[in-house]
Amino acid sequence: MKLLLTAGPTREPIDAVRYIGNRSSGKMGLAVAEAAVERGHAVTAVLGPVELPLPPAVRRVDVETAEQMRQAVLAEWPSHDVLVMAAAVADYRVAHPTAGKLDRRAGPVVLELQPNPVIVAEASAARRPGQKVIGFALEAEDGLARARLKLREKGLDLIVVNPLATMNASDVSATLIWADGREESLPAMGKAAFARRLVREAEVLFSMDRAGPAGRRSDA
Ligand code: CTP
Repeated sequence: MKLLLTAGPTREPIDAVRYIGNRSSGKMGLAVAEAAVERGHAVTAVLGPVELPLPPAVRRVDVETAEQMRQAVLAEWPSHDVLVMAAAVADYRVAHPTAGKLDRRAGPVVLELQPNPVIVAEASAARRPGQKVIGFALEAEDGLARARLKLREKGLDLIVVNPLATMNASDVSATLIWADGREESLPAMGKAAFARRLVREAEVLFSMDRAGPAGRRSDA
C-alpha cells in the first residue's frame, strides 16, 4: 500500500518575519509514519514546519503554508492509495501579507483573513476508484454529530474524532466513524498503539474494493 500522510502545522505569513501558526506537534503523523513503515508500506509524508525524526524509509516533502501543502498533496496523490490527513492545516491565511516587516510605529494593524481551501476535500474529489481518504477532527465531547457531518462534507472514508485535549497529549481517546455509518469509540491508548490501529484500518479500507462485494478480507 502506498500511503500519503500529512502532518504538523502550517504557517501563514503576516509579513517577512511573522506568521500565524498553531500548536500541532506532528507527533500523531510521526507515529502513523512509523507504524506504516513497520507494516511494510511505502510512505510519503508532506510535513508542515516541525522537527520530526521520521524513519529513513519515509519520503519527505517539506512545506510551510497551507497552499504549499495543497499543491504537494495534489501532486503526490495520484501515485498513492490512501491519504491520511493528520496535518493541522490553518483554516485561514492572511489576504495581503506585507512584503517587508510591519512597523509597530504605524499603529494598529487589521489583518484580513481568507479561508484556505480544504485540502482533504479536494483530494477526495480528485480521487480515482479504490483510493481511500482518512481525515481527523478535533471535537468537544458532544461533537460526534458534527464529525459525521464533516465526514460527508469532506468526502472521507473514515474520520478520527479526537477530544480537544489530544493536541500535544501523549494519549489518544479517539472515536472512529466510517462513511458506511459504523462507529467505534476506542479506549485511551498511546499514540504508537493508536497509529498501529489506524494503519490497520487503512489496510482494511484499501483492501475492501479488491475483495469484491463481500467486503473485508481477513488477511488485509
Ligand atoms: N483540513 C484540510 N484542509 C484545511 C483544513 C483542514 O485538509 N484547509 C483537514 C485536516 O487535515 C483534518 C480535517 O480537515 O484532517 C479537519 O481539520 P480541522 O482544521 O481540525 O477541522 P475542524 O476544526 O475539526 O473542522 P472544520 O474546520 O472542517 O470545521
